[in-house]
Amino acid sequence: MRIFLASPIDDTALAVLTERHAVTRAAAAGAGGVDPGLAACEVVVVRSGVTLSADVLSGAPHLRLVVRAGSGLDNLDLDYLASAGIRLLRVPGPGARAVAELTFGLILAVARRIAEADREVRDGRWRKHELAGPLLENKVLGIVGAGNIGSTVGRLGVAWGMRVVGCIAGGNDVSRARLEGSGIEILDFDAVVSAADILTIHVPLLPTTRHLVGASAIARLRPRSIVVNTARGGVLDEAALYEALASGHLAGAGLDVHEREGDGVVPPLADLANVVLTPHIGAMAADAQEQIGARVVELVDAYERGDLDVVARPEELVL
Ligand code: MLT
Repeated sequence: MRIFLASPIDDTALAVLTERHAVTRAAAAGAGGVDPGLAACEVVVVRSGVTLSADVLSGAPHLRLVVRAGSGLDNLDLDYLASAGIRLLRVPGPGARAVAELTFGLILAVARRIAEADREVRDGRWRKHELAGPLLENKVLGIVGAGNIGSTVGRLGVAWGMRVVGCIAGGNDVSRARLEGSGIEILDFDAVVSAADILTIHVPLLPTTRHLVGASAIARLRPRSIVVNTARGGVLDEAALYEALASGHLAGAGLDVHEREGDGVVPPLADLANVVLTPHIGAMAADAQEQIGARVVELVDAYERGDLDVVARPEELVL
């Protein structure tokens, strides 16, 4: 098959796909114009950072399958894919733990001011007595979106001795009971925001979640609380966050995802010392990428054999 890799994937998976198929690689399919590899392909493999809009997709008349090598679908035109009868799969499992672990890394980095302290030491300053931060134990971890990733973060919070509260859209009694059983108390969004010492965001970017954590939610956060976002930039209003950090209402923030991402973009939040910024590396645990790559290969093989609906797990089948 002709496969277009719109984003880099794990080397082992790349080698296997290249051995079995005609693979074309691109750095950014959505960057401008239609890549010739995309125009000829039957299968596209894509991660975040590349937008497959209707415009881009309309330049791929042979496309039959899109494999999202990860979880988020906000960079794909789902209506276009559905109306063109193009199958869409994703691989949400392996990245969840990786994102959850990075979330905890950011929580610790902000709470204990690790990045700030690192900069101080590198500059020859020993500000030990000015670099205090709170314990996590007995603090309230508020989870916006206690789904696959959010509930994993919640379980890590429980293990750290935190009180964990979370909200979930569309959960049923069974899923709520499972969350409660793992120590995550389910509340509504407003109650989670009001209770949290640390608020962490784990919902997809949808029209209904854009700026969900905006000025009014941020104003209701407890004084000196911390906000962490490893979901999608647009869910958190960064201008409102900036104001709340600069005024001292919030103690700090950790962001792996940003309203604007990519080379050459310096977020305004970079002005503030109490903010830790990473370049959308949540799923970039090497083991997770290896597992995602292996699963992409299995799903492409299944598509070629015609038994995708048997091999793909329910959470992987989008269209
Ligand atoms: C995802 O949605 O899986 C993550 O954003 C990782 C990625 O694709 O880069």
